[in-house]
Amino acid sequence: MRLPAGFELIAQDPHLGPLMLGSLERVEQRLGESVRSSDQLADVTAHHLLAAGGKRVRPLLALLAAEVAGSVNEDVIEAAVVVELTHLASLYHDDVMDSAPMRRGVETAHTVWGNTVAILTGDMIFARASAMVSALGQESLMIQASTFERLVIGQLRETTGPAEGQDPLEHYLEVIAGKTGSLIAASGQYGALLGGAPRSVVDLMVVYGEKVGLAFQLADDIIDLTGHPDVSGKTRGTDLREGVDTLPVLLLRRDAAGDNPAAAASAQNILRLIDGDLTDDAALATAVAAVSDHPAAAEAWQIANRWADEAIEALAPLPESVAKAALIEFAHAVVHRNG
Ligand code: IPE
Ligand code: IPE
Ligand code: MG
Ligand code: MG
Repeated sequence: MRLPAGFELIAQDPHLGPLMLGSLERVEQRLGESVRSSDQLADVTAHHLLAAGGKRVRPLLALLAAEVAGSVNEDVIEAAVVVELTHLASLYHDDVMDSAPMRRGVETAHTVWGNTVAILTGDMIFARASAMVSALGQESLMIQASTFERLVIGQLRETTGPAEGQDPLEHYLEVIAGKTGSLIAASGQYGALLGGAPRSVVDLMVVYGEKVGLAFQLADDIIDLTGHPDVSGKTRGTDLREGVDTLPVLLLRRDAAGDNPAAAASAQNILRLIDGDLTDDAALATAVAAVSDHPAAAEAWQIANRWADEAIEALAPLPESVAKAALIEFAHAVVHRNG
């Protein structure tokens, strides 16, 4: 077990390093146990994406938040498993919705077994997460239920697009707050709550998690264009091909409609590619390269960085500690990655 790149401070701290690695190993073991099924097919399909890897950032955040609160205990470990299971289940569904061929460096479940099996596998994993959270008390159960609802509504709003007259950028931020911010915020909330933090610290972790979650999804959306499949484990340009307008494309649309003629012309040229037929791999690669090289991609990184900085500002009331420094590192790592 290793921490993903960017978490060097945590990995090298003599207290936090072994604590986080040991706890993540325990989470890993519980994850494996928690998706076991007596149904042979469900057992294989549920382990497929779990075994393929993943960064485990949500469990890590739950553990770090618990460390801010006081200590990592068994309930925190269980909650860390719950957030990763919820994430895992959502990925089975997301890959169907996005027609994504690859995830975590392997073929997606719907590519191997078809949509029905992939969707039902996601449902089964959600059920396992619910069963586990039921042992963590009523407040934890409510956190899980409301997080799940926000995640689902975020995904739904992404597919419907902005409402009539709604600003597309505002719509986009609402979508990513729901589909990704919610679960990352819940991870911090669980850690603080179950680690025994005072209410003020639990609330602060929610604010931090929401902002860091936005930064995380903004980075994910840029990596869809600029990332390398060997690092991200995913197929480049999936959002473009699916017609999902993420921040770089929304910035191009803003430029295309703006009053700077040169900027508008350059954005319009790229939008013609993006809005054209991208079924062909070469056409997709051309469109991906055009967006990645445009200043809109760099501007999108700047905006992602700003959200990470805001997340860090939310930590200001916490006394200085290694755990706080680790949360600052976490926020930086989210926007300094390429997969
Ligand atoms: C991918 O999440 C889906 C998003 C919500 C952005 P991760 O980037 O955490 O995926 P894994 O778990 O590391 O594969
Ligand atoms: C994933 O969003 C959000 C959830 C799974 C809830 P994306 O569709 O943007 O994530 P990737 O890029 O496929 O991982
Ligand atoms: Mg997707
Ligand atoms: Mg998606």
